[in-house]
Amino acid sequence: MFSKTTLFATFLATVASVAAHPLDVWDPKIITPNSYTVWAPGGTYNVTWDTSDAPASISEGSEVVLAKSGVLDSANPLAQGFDLRAGWVPVTIPASTIPGSDYSIVLFGDSGNASPEFAIEYLKPVQL
Ligand SMILES: *[C@@H]1O[C@H](CO)[C@@H](O)[C@H](O)[C@H]1NC(C)=O
Repeated sequence: MFSKTTLFATFLATVASVAAHPLDVWDPKIITPNSYTVWAPGGTYNVTWDTSDAPASISEGSEVVLAKSGVLDSANPLAQGFDLRAGWVPVTIPASTIPGSDYSIVLFGDSGNASPEFAIEYLKPVQL
C-alpha cells in the first residue's frame, strides 16, 4: 500500500525528472513498418525512420521493441545500441511470433515512438 506521502514524493520525483529532461527531445517518425506492412515470423526486415529533423547531438540510447495490441515486449528488444541518425536498423522477427494484425514497432530515442499497427503472418514461399 502506498501512503499519501509516498505518492506525493513519487509525484515530485516525476516532475523533477521531466523538468531535468533536455529540451531538444527528438521523436523520430517511423516510416517502416506502416499499416500496409506484412512481415513473417523469422524474417529480417528494416525498421526505417525519418532523420530529416535529427538534432546535432544525440546522446540517449536507442532501442527497437515489438508491441502487440500496444503491449511492449520490452524484455526482448529487437535491436539496441544502433545509430539513430542512420535512419534504419535491421530487425529479425522471432520465429515463435504468433501471427496477428495488431503488432507495432516502438522506436526509442528520447521517448518511444510507435508505428501504426501492422500484420505478422506466415507468408507462403514464392514459387519460381
Ligand atoms: C536495409 O537497408 C539497408 C540500406 O538501404 C540495405 O543495405 C539492407 O540490405 C536492408 N536490409 C534489409 C533486411 O532489407
